[in-house]
Amino acid sequence: MSVYRKLFQNNKIWRENKQSINADYFKDLSEGQRPEILYIGCSDSRVTAEEMTGIKPGQMFVHRNIANLIPNNDPNSAAVIEYAITHLKVKHVVVCGHYKCGGVKAAMEAKDLGILNSWLRNIRDVYRLHKDELNQINDEEAKYMRLVELNVQEQCLNIIKTATLQRAYLKTGFPTVHGWVFDLHSGAIKDLRIDFEKMLTEIREIYDLGTVK
Ligand code: CO
Repeated sequence: MSVYRKLFQNNKIWRENKQSINADYFKDLSEGQRPEILYIGCSDSRVTAEEMTGIKPGQMFVHRNIANLIPNNDPNSAAVIEYAITHLKVKHVVVCGHYKCGGVKAAMEAKDLGILNSWLRNIRDVYRLHKDELNQINDEEAKYMRLVELNVQEQCLNIIKTATLQRAYLKTGFPTVHGWVFDLHSGAIKDLRIDFEKMLTEIREIYDLGTVK
């Protein structure tokens, strides 16, 4: 059986399993979602948002794109952030990158990738911002890993720059922003322990949108 055909067979088994534990499972699921977490990660097929965190349907709002980017003028991620924070009132926003990210690797190479160029330029911008640190790393693999981490950090900053985040956090104390890196070699999630409060203070020196007094 092809992988494609197997999807439907898997779905049937999954449905039956859920219903055998709770006959109302899908009825309950259809009544609404109350996720406390917004997860923004890479589209990479090896980095599963739900499976690696053990989260259940209804508990995590998920957005994935190549190299987990939140470009300043991207209406797609902006809408996700607005909906998750303002309407779903999530308590945590997670940006999850991963080592061995093909998007980050591509941005480190001198290659014209057509329509991907403008998307990957966001990562080259991260490189430029952190050029001094990155250029001191001689080992290419170590440099690649560090760029993955710095990219996550910069995307966290891009979220903190938004009026949506600033308004919600200053009024309610939520959500807080977290930066993670998934390590494909070990399966471990590494919390980069970004200093959210410090980032917010620094960002508001320049990106204060006057949304809350
Ligand atoms: Co990736």
